[in-house]
Amino acid sequence: MRYEEAYRQSIQDPDAFWLDAAQALDWDTSPPQGLGEDGSSWFAGGHLNLCHNAVDRHVEAGRGDDAALIYESPVTGTSQTYSFAELQSEIARTAGMLAAEGAKTGDRVIIYMPMIPQAVFAMLACARLGLVHSVVFGGFSAAELAKRIDDCEPVIVLTASCGIEGSKVIPYKPIVDDALNQASAKVSAVIVWQREQCAADLTSPCDKHWQAELAKAEPADCVSLPSDHPLYILYTSGTTGKPKGVVRETAGYGVALAWSMPNIYGVKPGEAYWAASDIGWVVGHSYIVYGPLLNGNATVLFEGKPVGTPNAGIFWRLVAKHQVSILFTAPTAIRAIRGADPAGELLAEAQPDCLRALFLAGERADPDTVEWVGEQLGKPVIDHWWQTELGWPALATCAGLGTAPAPVGSAGYPVPGFAFHVLDESGVAVGADVTGNLAIAEPLPPGSFRSLWQNEEGFRGYFTAFDGFYATGDAGVMGSDGAYRVMGRTDDIINVAGHRLSTGQIEEVVASCPSVVECAVIGGSDNLKGEVPVVFFVGASGAGDEAAVTGEIVGSVREQISPIAAPRDVVSVAALPKTRSGKILRNLLRAVVNGGEIVIPQTIENPDVVQATIDRFETFKKG
Ligand code: COA
Ligand code: AMP
Repeated sequence: MRYEEAYRQSIQDPDAFWLDAAQALDWDTSPPQGLGEDGSSWFAGGHLNLCHNAVDRHVEAGRGDDAALIYESPVTGTSQTYSFAELQSEIARTAGMLAAEGAKTGDRVIIYMPMIPQAVFAMLACARLGLVHSVVFGGFSAAELAKRIDDCEPVIVLTASCGIEGSKVIPYKPIVDDALNQASAKVSAVIVWQREQCAADLTSPCDKHWQAELAKAEPADCVSLPSDHPLYILYTSGTTGKPKGVVRETAGYGVALAWSMPNIYGVKPGEAYWAASDIGWVVGHSYIVYGPLLNGNATVLFEGKPVGTPNAGIFWRLVAKHQVSILFTAPTAIRAIRGADPAGELLAEAQPDCLRALFLAGERADPDTVEWVGEQLGKPVIDHWWQTELGWPALATCAGLGTAPAPVGSAGYPVPGFAFHVLDESGVAVGADVTGNLAIAEPLPPGSFRSLWQNEEGFRGYFTAFDGFYATGDAGVMGSDGAYRVMGRTDDIINVAGHRLSTGQIEEVVASCPSVVECAVIGGSDNLKGEVPVVFFVGASGAGDEAAVTGEIVGSVREQISPIAAPRDVVSVAALPKTRSGKILRNLLRAVVNGGEIVIPQTIENPDVVQATIDRFETFKKG
């Protein structure tokens, strides 16, 4: 089927379109319907298991010896390939270990792990038993981990003794202990995979040695689960310090991902596919773990960085080594590679000719970067757009449906199932080439979220701005060619190296520093990371010198949120520009930092502050 026909069918008769797509999976009970009568549920009445679909069924089909999981860890010097049969055995025993701990279907399990195979085994072991996993990115602080523990109340925390960041070994167990001390919820077990780079102290009665527990465990079978069983909770940034727990249901997600692999990415079972992301993010869930395995692809798990581990040729060498057909990464990674290998010498040396296309997502793909890497590779570079809430790409070039790559600068065309509209503030559709709010008409297709964990109000919030639509929070424009360009967020979320962060949350942390009276945090443009946090603050009288306060602010953000949220610039000001009603003029601050047009609103309380802020920022940049 071609793209236009698939899109038309998916919108005109979503029920039939997705019931047909559902045939790509093995069901214990086939679903009698696609879209439910409630207008949002998918495949009600069906029963299946996603671990069976991702792993066991490929073994049963005689593909047990084929490569399934390729672990490449330049930071430990490890390269290891697990076949589908080996993967099945590892997962079944890991599931047995969890069952022996008393975890039951529906219980939550937090996975706070580095990019090692055991993290993938753990996710799929949860899926095998119907445990709801919640993977927390290994770079998050104890305070952030504690929030997630309190919100989803896991029975078990799975972790490793350490993560490895370039040349740094980061012990995880002290972070987990700290988080459990901060959290009110109690867990019955903390199971620690001991890595040779660092041994964790297992002193509390609930601490367990993963390897020892695994040695005792009996393999566990897949449990048949209803379509709407929650597969996982994945927390993402909202506008406050409280993260939002996106709940992903089993069947819709499985069907959407299984459909996306051949139709969006154009990959066939048996090929190698690599999403160079982290399992802590939605890209990692969908396209390191579930998507490729559901489609019978070998998936690459990479523990390293695009540069420095050991150099900017690592992506291309691994592509060539494993004959990767499709690579997916964030534009930041390509900018970092370009910075270190501007003439593409390492790329040419690696000869990654097997690559058919490079997909980019997670943040705006600047045309310069897209064009540079396209020229170096001589292959299509495809930007595509999605969000944690949606679970899989919503704007893309569907390479598998014969569409030519959308023009550089656009994120592609609506993916079948996603009925995009560009709306003005009152919810009226604007025409082509006019910027507005990107919204998607209900029903959302399979795979998209249908709830936030214990946060019905937060969930409804996505659907109240525009009646009958999901509000994406992004601004965008549809060109007359039907391709969409994404212009950025309409709220206070920023994208730092492809990581979604809330400036409101960073503000909460900065404002809690004793030396700070008030502050504003905005996204500053950055050549490498796309955006970075920039802090303006008014210091308390008697606070230490500026360098000390800056240290306090940066330290607090690293400690309370994550080093990935560390501000690039911390600028002290005598006062913040505000409206008469006391609202901080963040757009004005953004213009000061990023060089946009400075528009001074009529309602400003303190006009003199504007020039003072401009002067102060200039001095800051010089000094
Ligand atoms: N565990 C612990 N700490 C982590 C971490 C993790 N999993 N990930 C990042 N950090 C730390 C880093 O060590 C660094 O700490 P430092 O300030 O003490 O040095 C800090 O967080 C910032 O890390 P990062 O954003 O990775 O910046 P970097 O300068 O180390 O590397 C890039 C720059 C461009 C190479 C890197 O940001 C990158 O690989 N980006 C691509 C991200 C990506 O793939 N996103 C996909 C989302 S789809
Ligand atoms: P996350 O939920 O972490 O995946 O972040 C989703 C947000 O990242 C979106 O709302 C966008 O603001 C941004 N984003 C993702 N992909 C793209 C893209 N291809 N182009 C521009 N912004 C993107």
